[in-house]
Amino acid sequence: MIDLKDVTKLYGSTTAVNRLSLHVAAGEIYGFIGPNGAGKTTTIRIMGGIIEPTSGSIIIGGIDMKRQPVLAKSIIGYVPDRPFLYEKLTGMEFMKFIGDLYRVDSASFPGRASSLLEQFALHDWQNEIIEAYSHGMKQRLIIASALLHDPKVMVIDEPMVGLDPSAVRMVRDILKDLAARGVTIFVSTHTLSIAQDLCDRIGVIHKGLLLAQGTLAELNHAARTGEADLEDVFLTLVKEA
Ligand SMILES: Nc1ncnc2c1ncn2[C@@H]1O[C@H](COP(=O)(O)OP(=O)(O)OP(=O)(O)O)[C@@H](O)[C@H]1O
Ligand SMILES: [Mg+2]
Repeated sequence: MIDLKDVTKLYGSTTAVNRLSLHVAAGEIYGFIGPNGAGKTTTIRIMGGIIEPTSGSIIIGGIDMKRQPVLAKSIIGYVPDRPFLYEKLTGMEFMKFIGDLYRVDSASFPGRASSLLEQFALHDWQNEIIEAYSHGMKQRLIIASALLHDPKVMVIDEPMVGLDPSAVRMVRDILKDLAARGVTIFVSTHTLSIAQDLCDRIGVIHKGLLLAQGTLAELNHAARTGEADLEDVFLTLVKEA
């Protein structure tokens, strides 16, 4: 469902992403972890069609992002790390704004928006302006709005930052449920316990290079760390690199 081939992104003399190739199957949750500045956000922005790679190809759901960017974006739900919200809008108005951007038809919009706001425990807040929302509520609203057009692929940059434990569990359960229904999820995080618990496979990126990828057992094999948890594997891989 997601195919990256030799994706490279240069910023001047910095190689933010270095010949990255990876495949994520339909319904799979792929976690992307790596130190600060490793290239996670750059990769996610490329996959979301926000920036273009210097070279390499991105195929999402069989659609070439370079040739048909609008079509590709129509099947992607993109959640940026630092989302922009129009804070003078109410939650429901914001949903309508995003729904219009993604051409969600007006007949199915109300039911869809309502059930998403309910799912993300924002129903009681739908008519309040976003300015009054807490950080975690804004984050939940962004994820809810990214699901409005029923995307086949979710690309999410650090969804759990600033969420309280029950919101973390809520988002985790929603992502797992989406994957069980066939949605493919690519998610970056610094919370390794969540990555270990949520993801089917994990890729470790450092200085733009994919150091290893696979299940926890496969990563342990690559790092020769026995049966260590993801944190130990991560620290070992990054130290060796
Ligand atoms: N717009 C930009 N202009 C110049 N350099 C950039 C730009 N965006 C990212 N970089 C550089 O690319 C590299 C990768 O950055 P990126 O934001 O992708 O890392 P990250 O893995 O998301 O890090 P973090 O964990 O801190 O979010 C870094 O060296 C960064 O300084
Ligand atoms: Mg980042």
